[in-house]
Formats: sequence, C-alpha cells, structure tokens
Amino acid sequence: MTPVLEIDGLDKRFGGIVVADGIDLTLNPGRVVGLIGPNGAGKTSLFNLISGVFPSDAGTIRLDGQRLDGLAMHRRASLGLARTWQNLRLFPSLSVLDNLMVGPRRYLGDRFLRLALDPAGVRSQEAGTRRRAEEVLERTRLSGVAATPAADLTFGQQKLVGVARALMNDARCLLLDEPMAGVEGQAYEIMQQVVREVAEGGVAVCVVEHNVAFIRDLCDEGVFMFAGKVLARGPVADLIADPRLTELYFGT
Ligand SMILES: Nc1ncnc2c1ncn2[C@@H]1O[C@H](COP(=O)(O)OP(=O)(O)OP(=O)(O)O)[C@@H](O)[C@H]1O
Ligand SMILES: [Mg+2]
Repeated sequence: MTPVLEIDGLDKRFGGIVVADGIDLTLNPGRVVGLIGPNGAGKTSLFNLISGVFPSDAGTIRLDGQRLDGLAMHRRASLGLARTWQNLRLFPSLSVLDNLMVGPRRYLGDRFLRLALDPAGVRSQEAGTRRRAEEVLERTRLSGVAATPAADLTFGQQKLVGVARALMNDARCLLLDEPMAGVEGQAYEIMQQVVREVAEGGVAVCVVEHNVAFIRDLCDEGVFMFAGKVLARGPVADLIADPRLTELYFGT
C-alpha cells in the first residue's frame, strides 16, 4: 500500500523542550490510526508540524509523495491536508452553514477584492461552496441545524462542525485533535460513524484522543507517543495492555 502521509526523522525543539524526536510515521489510505500518549507527549505538536503551524528543525513530511515541509499552511491544505483543533475555533455567532462557507479568517479580506474584480466568478464559486457545504453537513448529520448559530449547538454538535469544516476541502489526510473531549451521548456514535465513513472514502485518518475506548472501537491501529518519540505502533488492544506504556501514560 502506498502511504498517503510519510514522515521521516522529524525533529522539533523549543529551547530545552523536545516536542518531536526522530519521528517516523506513515498513514495509509482508508485506515484510521489512533495517536495516544500522556499530556505533553507531543501529539498536538506533531499535528502542528504536519499542518505547518510551526516549522520542523529536521526531517521530511510527504503527502502523496510531495514534500509538505517548508510549505505554508494554506498550501498544505490545498494539497489535501485537513485538521481539526483541540480548541474548536468556530465562529460562534455564525450559522453552522456559514461556519463551513467562510474560509479561515485570514482569507476574508481577499474575498472582497475578488468580488470587486470578478463578481460573476465569485458568485458561481460561492454556489459551488454552498453545495459542497450542504453535502458535508449531510455526511456529518448536521443538515437539521444548518441555520442554527454555532453557539447554540450542544458541545458534541460543535465538535462535529469542527470535523465538517475540515471536510470542506478534499482531504487526502485528516488529522483530528481530541474530537471526543467533552462529548457525550448521541454525538459519540455519530462521530465514530462519520470518521469511519471518511476513511472508507480512502482518506488516511489520524485521531488524537484520551478517550481510550473511543480509540479502541474506532481505530485500525494505535501509535503511542511519549516525550516527542513514537515508542510503539500496533493493535490498540496491545498498546493499552502493555504495562510499560500504561505506566508512562498514568505515571507512577
Ligand atoms: N509553541 C510552543 N512553544 C513552546 N513549547 C511548546 C509549544 N507547543 C508545544 N509546546 C510544548 O511541547 C510539549 C508537547 O505539547 P503538546 O501540546 O504537543 O502535547 P500533547 O501530547 O498534545 O498533550 P495533551 O494531551 O495535553 O493535549 C509541551 O511541553 C508543550 O508545553
Ligand atoms: Mg494536545
């Protein structure tokens, strides 16, 4: 199987803190990998390095064979890398539909310039974006709340909006940072189904989560991180049964 995402020898430190220490990781199409490890292990930092929030010190990141490292965040996104954020970053007063239709905050100014220069082009592009948003809302079971302000949703629904936003561009690789944190009830099953269906569409998915039951039920495989290193990769049941890893996870 040709990997979608291929990371080799990734290093990153902030002063004395090593957040990535020789990380090698591959993500394959149609597979869901669960990334687990204690607080501060470097899980979010790894997502930040892959998505380009900050640069790496060494190593390579490839998406479908193409180098991502060195590219700006929006270039990585346009090549098919999508992610969600541990803190949600929604627009609370905008409707769910509009949360999907607006791009990242920094591109809003750009829209007004294009609207002045090419109004018909912008309108047809917006019609396309709207169709895409409606389709994504259906896939994430959010069509019924499309017109509701994001702030009025349950926390679980807000988490689903975060995933829906990530699905707006045609992702080849989807990184989910704690999609279940604080989520209860119906949203739990929906989140499982949505992520499964995304993977079935051929996307390579990586999920960071402290909810080990969620990871065990959802993921094809687990990766255990500690102090910026990948210590183990294998069936999730094996990782959580490994006393050496549970000791690192829960401390002594
Ligand atoms: N921009 C930054 N500047 C300095 N230190 C940082 C930065 N980002 C992360 N760190 C540090 O890197 C380490 C790893 O943090 P990270 O957020 O990646 O952990 P995590 O595995 O996602 O933890 P959690 O499960 O609590 O979300 C922490 O010690 C954190 O303080
Ligand atoms: Mg984190």
